Amino acid sequence: MKLRKEWVEKAKKNAALEAVKHVKEGFVVGLGSGSTAAYAIEEIGNRIKREGLHVLGVPTSYQAFMSAIKHRIPTTTLEEHPILNLTIDGADQIDDELNLIKGMGGALTREKIVASASKKLVIVADESKKVKCLGENNHPVPIEVLPLAAQPVMLKITEIGGKPILREGTKKVGPVITDNGNIIIDANFGLIDKPAELERKIKNISGVVETGLFIKMADIVYIGKPDSTEKIERKK
Ligand code: A5P
Repeated sequence: MKLRKEWVEKAKKNAALEAVKHVKEGFVVGLGSGSTAAYAIEEIGNRIKREGLHVLGVPTSYQAFMSAIKHRIPTTTLEEHPILNLTIDGADQIDDELNLIKGMGGALTREKIVASASKKLVIVADESKKVKCLGENNHPVPIEVLPLAAQPVMLKITEIGGKPILREGTKKVGPVITDNGNIIIDANFGLIDKPAELERKIKNISGVVETGLFIKMADIVYIGKPDSTEKIERKK
């Protein structure tokens, strides 16, 4: 069990190290959230120290912001830099067309905004995230919702074929509150054979802020393994 955990961490780190090779002098880089993206943030910090690289980071969450500070990456905002050279982020599921489910860390809205503002989105993950079809193993789609709309949104998600659950906190009673002051609804749609259509249907519900379906956004995915890394590029 301990060995498996070590392997997974090694795999995540391998993917992150490959992705950070895309970062060049003067770049403005979107800093992703989650445990795999955290390795990429650490490596950007290492390169700043080692090579004297000048880069600015745009964090996708409070976690990424804290990590940028820890690794001495100067941060900026979309206000100052509305176009980013690159974003490196993690994912929860990745299909053959490089469509993604993101948001198990609750940062999906900022992640999607930052990714959309980037010329390139590079995803880092271990092998367990690769699936044939999004929604496999009853994986839910995280959906960020305005708190006042929780119940109507859950009803509408049921109407379009999902099973919604309000995400509860662990070290706090009540729902998880996102960095934007909203709630997260995790909706299980079973196997998602038309992810773009589902994305449109969910986004159409009033009160929905954003969904964790990232359709045709990833340009490159690095799948880390304990002793190597696989690179997959999206066919345009
Ligand atoms: C955060 O909201 C997510 O989108 C993460 O990027 C995703 O959950 C992957 O996280 P791990 O790298 O920790 O698996």
